[in-house]
Amino acid sequence: EQDLGDDITTIHVTEAQIKHRLTEMAADIDRDYKDREVLLVGVLKGAVMVMADLARALHSPVRMDWMAVSSYGSGTKSSGVVRILKDLDTDLKDQHVLIVEDIIDSGLTLSWLLTNLKSRGAASVEICTMLRKPEASKVDIDVKYVGFDVPNEFVIGYGLDFAEKYRNVPFVATLAPHVYS
Ligand code: PRP
Ligand code: MN
Ligand code: MG
Repeated sequence: EQDLGDDITTIHVTEAQIKHRLTEMAADIDRDYKDREVLLVGVLKGAVMVMADLARALHSPVRMDWMAVSSYGSGTKSSGVVRILKDLDTDLKDQHVLIVEDIIDSGLTLSWLLTNLKSRGAASVEICTMLRKPEASKVDIDVKYVGFDVPNEFVIGYGLDFAEKYRNVPFVATLAPHVYS
């Protein structure tokens, strides 16, 4: 494991907590999709870790596909206008889609993605996220599976980056302000 020095302040979710919560979420998903084949849609790049771990925690056979999106916006604020950088390879017609995300922050990315994927004729579209920030409650989206709620701080790890770093940190922590300011 990498030496983070004083790059982080508080650890919010440990590796063991993530592992335990994933088995619970996987059990819920196995139960809910009992007789339906599910297509997991991972949102690159943050969702890579949760997708890999969730998929292996499930007992049901699943298919996996990936999308890369980028949110247009000035500075650090997301605008809600989203551009597809890499589209799915799968036709969603009559598919049961489960979007897999690392975190919902403003919720704008997912709000757009939900509308977009539903418009392709999917039989159902649900959301699974490992983390959720308080801002997400401001947009009206139904999130069926949530791992943990985290405070409105700059968190990194378990897929979440700062300038592409820290994604491989196995827990979720607040990044120390001196790193990004
Ligand atoms: C992050 C995160 C979510 C999104 C959440 O992705 O992984 O996909 O932002 O933000 P929102 O709820 O405010 O829309 P990012 O755009 O940083 O790309 P990345 O996954 O490649 O890091
Ligand atoms: Mn992302
Ligand atoms: Mg990012």
